[in-house]
Amino acid sequence: MTSTLSPSQGLRRHWLGAAIWLLPLAAAATGATDQLAGYESAAGRRGNAAQGEAFFTAKHGREWACASCHGVPPTKPGQHRSTGKAIAPLAPAFEPKRFTEPAKTEKWFRRNCNDVLGRECNAGEKADVLAWLVGLKP
Ligand code: HEC
Repeated sequence: MTSTLSPSQGLRRHWLGAAIWLLPLAAAATGATDQLAGYESAAGRRGNAAQGEAFFTAKHGREWACASCHGVPPTKPGQHRSTGKAIAPLAPAFEPKRFTEPAKTEKWFRRNCNDVLGRECNAGEKADVLAWLVGLKP
């Protein structure tokens, strides 16, 4: 019996080791691109900015689109459709506090998606929206 690893087994071990080291980093993500990477890995695909823009600006069978409160493009302050309160720009290049707190991001995705779609957004939809937002530059 031999305990030598074949080259492919060795590689797989190496990859697993790296993934385990990276997990805590992903959990501590604090920026828009980190959160984008988290949603992309949960969705198993890259975010698609064009799809994100279409998703954000469309109505989904209800009264509001994401854009109803956040504006299009969301690079300027938006306005809440029912309370009239100002909402800081959603695109992170225009508002540095955006997407720095994953718990806050998740809370608002849940709430807003329920308002707009009547259900939660899935990881792919969040990745698409974030891919679009991250690409909006001054
Ligand atoms: C009825 C008004 C309204 C609609 C419609 C709406 N939002 Fe929001 N959104 C808000 C408010 C209010 C906040 C929280 C205040 C803030 O962060 O400025 C917020 C915050 C967020 C955040 C938190 C960002 C961060 O800083 O982490 C995300 C993400 C978000 N919205 C995405 C969406 C998406 C996607 C849609 C469409 C599915 C949507 N919103 C539709 C009002 C709205």
